[in-house]
Amino acid sequence: MAQLIVALDLPRKDAALSLARDLQGLVPWCKMGMELFTLAGPGLLESLRTLGFKVFLDLKFYDIPHTVGRAVKAAAAVGVDLLTLHCQGGGRMCREARAAVDGLAADSPARPLLFGVTVLTSLAAGEMPGIAAAPADFAMNLAADAQGWGLDGVVCSGQEAARIKAASPGLLCLCPGIRPAGTAAGDQRRIMTPAKAVAAGADFLVVGRPILEAPSPAEAARRILAEMDAAE
Ligand code: C5P
Repeated sequence: MAQLIVALDLPRKDAALSLARDLQGLVPWCKMGMELFTLAGPGLLESLRTLGFKVFLDLKFYDIPHTVGRAVKAAAAVGVDLLTLHCQGGGRMCREARAAVDGLAADSPARPLLFGVTVLTSLAAGEMPGIAAAPADFAMNLAADAQGWGLDGVVCSGQEAARIKAASPGLLCLCPGIRPAGTAAGDQRRIMTPAKAVAAGADFLVVGRPILEAPSPAEAARRILAEMDAAE
């Protein structure tokens, strides 16, 4: 059963909390990304958990193994349930993240799931600097690596989820670039509707603007959830 994550890409803590309250009990996951975490930090994360949300920290770690391992421990300490790191950080970096989670004490506030970013859904063919491969092929290869390094899943386009799941059984797929029919793609390039992404095997759908910019975010979320249910 695929799960919906709302991306709280908002510039203020009170706006994020107010939207979260509108979606409480409806959407199981909230995502804090660079903007909101920089502004509001772990305090808001704690408030979201108190409201009953699971929290995805999307800071896309990409650094030396030592630094990433310590950042993963810090995320666990503040209660992060899922986090992202770049597959392109390589095997030693990703294994260090795995070791950091595996080494957490039994009473750790959380044991974050580790998701490796393959190719950003905003990138189209020809837009990856220095990489001639098609985004889907490059994402497939990184996903296979990510599984070997012990990550729980990968971030990929819904367009790649079926191939990745066939080639790397057991690896979870988290898909941004989700666009219900009739909504604007914006800066995203490798997009898919909620129904198609679920049918392709996505385990998590991340949706920002189609919910945030809707006249009624709760209604938009309900429609997406209904579309996901129908596609299961
Ligand atoms: O507004 P939209 O639905 O495009 O938001 C997608 C969210 O998913 C954003 O918060 C973006 O940072 C995130 N994301 C993404 N592509 C990735 C990883 C994360 O769009 N590969």
